[in-house]
Amino acid sequence: MDNNTVYLNGDYLPLSDAKISVMDRGFLFGDGIYEVIPSYSGHLFHFEQHMERLENSLTLIRLENPHDSAKWREILTPLLDANLDQSIYIQITRGVAAKRDHTFPANIIPTVFAMSSNIVGFTDLESGAKAISIDDSRWGLCNVKAITLLANILLRQQAVDRGCAEAILVKDGYVTEGAASNIFAVIDGILITPPKGREILAGVTRDVILELARDNDIACSEDIISLDALKTASEIWLTSSTREIIPVVQLDNETIANGKPGPVWKTINHLFQTYKKSKP
Ligand code: PDD
Repeated sequence: MDNNTVYLNGDYLPLSDAKISVMDRGFLFGDGIYEVIPSYSGHLFHFEQHMERLENSLTLIRLENPHDSAKWREILTPLLDANLDQSIYIQITRGVAAKRDHTFPANIIPTVFAMSSNIVGFTDLESGAKAISIDDSRWGLCNVKAITLLANILLRQQAVDRGCAEAILVKDGYVTEGAASNIFAVIDGILITPPKGREILAGVTRDVILELARDNDIACSEDIISLDALKTASEIWLTSSTREIIPVVQLDNETIANGKPGPVWKTINHLFQTYKKSKP
């Protein structure tokens, strides 16, 4: 199907016909979660890992998963196009309530929505990207892939307003992640990414990179990174399902190393590109 067809509560319909009630708790409270799964040539990439994270997000917001993973695959399959690289967006909200009340309503049916769009990716991989560091103003449950993204949006926009691709977030002097990405740095020859916890979203791309690094004898560790240490890094990358692995060549107007994507990025990016085609 083309990207114009979406799934809403059991039906497939044109995007322009997909409507929800203004009483939906996603609209009123941002009371819901989402997932973004890449699909390469019609194959959902690391589908089970995305399903695990979806389940985890739902558990943390005390919402029951409306479908098992076989049913999710069945729902998403008609949205896939074998000729495209797509990002598949799933959103589940607590549903439509009779009145606006913070408390969970009884017997409410979740709203389930899914759509696809083309992955455009980061187009300037040869030159790399610029980033800013900025105070992490988000809430305390960043491990939930919550649709409540106002802080992330404001942070990303500040980066864009300053001609940068991403905001690198800093909490108590330590780097957490990007506004919509995870962070890796090469410091003293070791590839480091902050550990999983409530401060970051456990990125599926992040896990793939760690696996590729371990399988290919690239020294790596999951460890805290201070902003001071980040400023000494020879390489910084930002990773996500839609932008893959972006090399950062400038942080807060300071050039990183020689200002070009580094050798470890080149190796990992090559491994990632090969892996994603071989292993849906
Ligand atoms: N975001 N951290 C945050 C805050 C994110 O929003 C994302 C991805 C990631 C990377 O996760 P993954 O590798 O599983 O895509 C980390 C998606 C792409 C989005 O919000 O559109």
